[in-house]
Amino acid sequence: SCITAPSALRSRDPRPLPHRLHQNSNLSVASPRTFEIDYKNDCFRKDGTEFQYISGSIHYNRIPRVYWKDRLLKMYMAGLNAIQMYIPWNFHEPHPGQYVFSGDRDVMHFIQLAHDIGLLVILRPGPYICGEWDMGGLPAWLLNKKDIVLRTSDPDYINAVDKWMGKLLPMIKPFLYQNGGPIITVQVENEYGSYFACDYSYLRHLVSLFRSHLGQDVVLFSTDGAGVSYLKCGSLQGMYATVDFGPGSNVTAAFAAQRYAEPHGPLVNSEFYTGWLDHWGEQHSRVPTSAVVKTLVDMLNMGANVNLYMFIGGTNFGYWNGANGPYAPQPTSYDYDAPLTEAGDLTDKYFAIRDVIKMIPEGPPPPSTPKYAYGPVTMKKVSMHEIFSSLTVKSSNRFLYNHLPITYFFMKQFGFILYRTTLPVDCSKPTALSSPLNGVHDRAYVSVDGIAAGILERDKAISLNITGKAGSQLDVLVENMGRINYGKDINDFKGLVSNLTLGAKVLSIWTSYSLSIDEAISQGLLHGRDFKRRVPIRRPSRLLQHSVSSLPTFYSGTFSIADGIPDLPQDTYIQFPNWKKGQIWINGFNLGRYWPDRGPQITLFVPASLLSTAVLNNITVLELEGAPCAPGPCTVEFTAIPVLNATLASLRSKINALSFAVTFCVEKVIL
Ligand SMILES: *[C@@H]1O[C@H](CO)[C@@H](O)[C@H](O)[C@H]1NC(C)=O
Ligand SMILES: *[C@@H]1O[C@H](CO)[C@@H](O)[C@H](O)[C@H]1NC(C)=O
Ligand SMILES: *[C@@H]1O[C@H](CO)[C@@H](O)[C@H](O)[C@H]1NC(C)=O
Ligand SMILES: *[C@@H]1O[C@H](CO)[C@@H](O)[C@H](O)[C@H]1NC(C)=O
Ligand SMILES: *[C@@H]1O[C@H](CO)[C@@H](O)[C@H](O)[C@H]1NC(C)=O
Ligand SMILES: *[C@@H]1O[C@H](CO)[C@@H](O)[C@H](O)[C@H]1NC(C)=O
Repeated sequence: SCITAPSALRSRDPRPLPHRLHQNSNLSVASPRTFEIDYKNDCFRKDGTEFQYISGSIHYNRIPRVYWKDRLLKMYMAGLNAIQMYIPWNFHEPHPGQYVFSGDRDVMHFIQLAHDIGLLVILRPGPYICGEWDMGGLPAWLLNKKDIVLRTSDPDYINAVDKWMGKLLPMIKPFLYQNGGPIITVQVENEYGSYFACDYSYLRHLVSLFRSHLGQDVVLFSTDGAGVSYLKCGSLQGMYATVDFGPGSNVTAAFAAQRYAEPHGPLVNSEFYTGWLDHWGEQHSRVPTSAVVKTLVDMLNMGANVNLYMFIGGTNFGYWNGANGPYAPQPTSYDYDAPLTEAGDLTDKYFAIRDVIKMIPEGPPPPSTPKYAYGPVTMKKVSMHEIFSSLTVKSSNRFLYNHLPITYFFMKQFGFILYRTTLPVDCSKPTALSSPLNGVHDRAYVSVDGIAAGILERDKAISLNITGKAGSQLDVLVENMGRINYGKDINDFKGLVSNLTLGAKVLSIWTSYSLSIDEAISQGLLHGRDFKRRVPIRRPSRLLQHSVSSLPTFYSGTFSIADGIPDLPQDTYIQFPNWKKGQIWINGFNLGRYWPDRGPQITLFVPASLLSTAVLNNITVLELEGAPCAPGPCTVEFTAIPVLNATLASLRSKINALSFAVTFCVEKVIL
């Protein structure tokens, strides 16, 4: 093997303080720089010298830009000499040919910051990334071709990949180590050996595409599970094969798997799991520090290169979380039980890892940011009151909806889509409204004539009973809860993807409305405006009283932050006592989903950068199931303490799993 850990670590560059590096940072400095694999001595070589990295994963797309530097500095001060990062394609190309690289999406600025601080970069630009990110980073518009085979040589997929990489990789090139930048290695695809397709021509195409844009010198690599079966389809001549595995693994056996694909060269664990991901409705994942430390020491003793996944997880703001199958979406927090918390705070795990690395730069790490409990904020129903009537009332408002063709069944956007039809027959007795093919993607809030009737949920509840008269308006508001990011089901169409039946009848003649709620909020439309309702709302009859207490409804509230206190605004967390499930925006920023009814996440991280001391802060909440507002006041509450590990009421949701009752509509009302 290359060399043992302690001497390898000692051979690393002395670690100057970051501020000294700042002044030297110049991408066009012309000293000869090389980064390569030494197959003879089983190690990397940087500028001709043996080199070992200890890196940490950080996702700029999960951290507000103002905090990038703070998080990177903390990583540097832990003794890491590199970071590892994905670039999610769908974060940067929301529509074909429309690219966004500014603000929180200014990935080049992020790479430059890492460089300025003195961190090398291991880049993973996809095109597929997994990463518990919507559709594994692939843009949903790829699904415009319904039978596209993603992550293969499918010509439409390749065409889109070529265009995207033709945009991205030339921007990356000046940041390669050889060109004076921090990027030492570039990963191609991600865990491809876990995908069913096993399409070597696709991988070969990517390798030559990357080489054509980045040159022959860059070290390209692949990452796969530490098992020979994964490496079979994941590794290819021209990419250096690396593996990933977590604490508690048999390190000898895991690296033996890497040696199956790479008999010589450095040992690399590209994803050493410091923690693990969460799903709504499951226990919060925790990985003990002792287990992380033990396996880390074992790997370093073998001279291995290690990337800690994650070093900081961050937040799935907005609608960005992904999901696993059978359908299980990830929550808003991507804390990951990582060494730095979701909010960038230092943990015991951080200091324990720092002690193992023993390459501590002078001085302490930047401190955890203070948190402030702004307290409760009273929320009021936005008096236009619910989405359905707002559609009718604001029919001239192009921001709120688009009237789409009846055949438009697939949702191309994030968020919500409304399907509307009328009951073809009288259903005086409870009659099953069902999705026999489990085609509600992913959760539907059903109402008849403006009265909530219940919820359908993918893989959990495919049927509910409704009553109503022929001609009654049936509304099905479908929520996209995040596209599957892993496995064969990543072609994750959203909306109603198969027929709904009422009794034995297939319901037809739907009108679908694509709801641009985020645009409406950014226009200030859903904030305290007093719209008059026009849709007649009937009082619920006894028959109509189901478990759902109310229709999806908007609430708004404001709060001010005293400007006399010098250190405000500070970071905070928001919680939703007795609320059920929904989406929240603060000052127009889509913070994410809340779902305390299912857990385990209870609080959402609110970075200080969203808050204002100068003007009133605005909160908008879309509660989908029922706010605790009637009677009495309803409040959301800012707290200083995060709760991600509530014990769960989750089993509740599994009780009505896959109930599929069939009853038939009668032609006449029988009383
Ligand atoms: C960076 O280096 C180039 C080439 O040596 C030099 O022309 C340029 O002035 C430098 N820029 C800064 C900001 O130091
Ligand atoms: C670890 O794997 C190696 C190689 O497969 C094997 O020889 C060894 O017994 C394993 N160790 C444990 C503790 O299972
Ligand atoms: C629907 O109503 C029928 C009787 O009309 C009942 O047997 C069935 O359990 C109900 N199904 C659900 C899901 O409530
Ligand atoms: C929906 O039902 C119609 C009419 O019965 C049928 O033609 C169509 O194939 C069905 N579509 C799906 C996706 O099941
Ligand atoms: C909150 O909304 C009010 C009224 O629309 C607006 O004047 C104010 O600037 C908003 N606050 C922030 C922090 O954006
Ligand atoms: C959640 O985590 C906190 C902080 O680590 C701990 O004090 C608390 O006991 C945990 N709660 C549950 C229900 O596990």
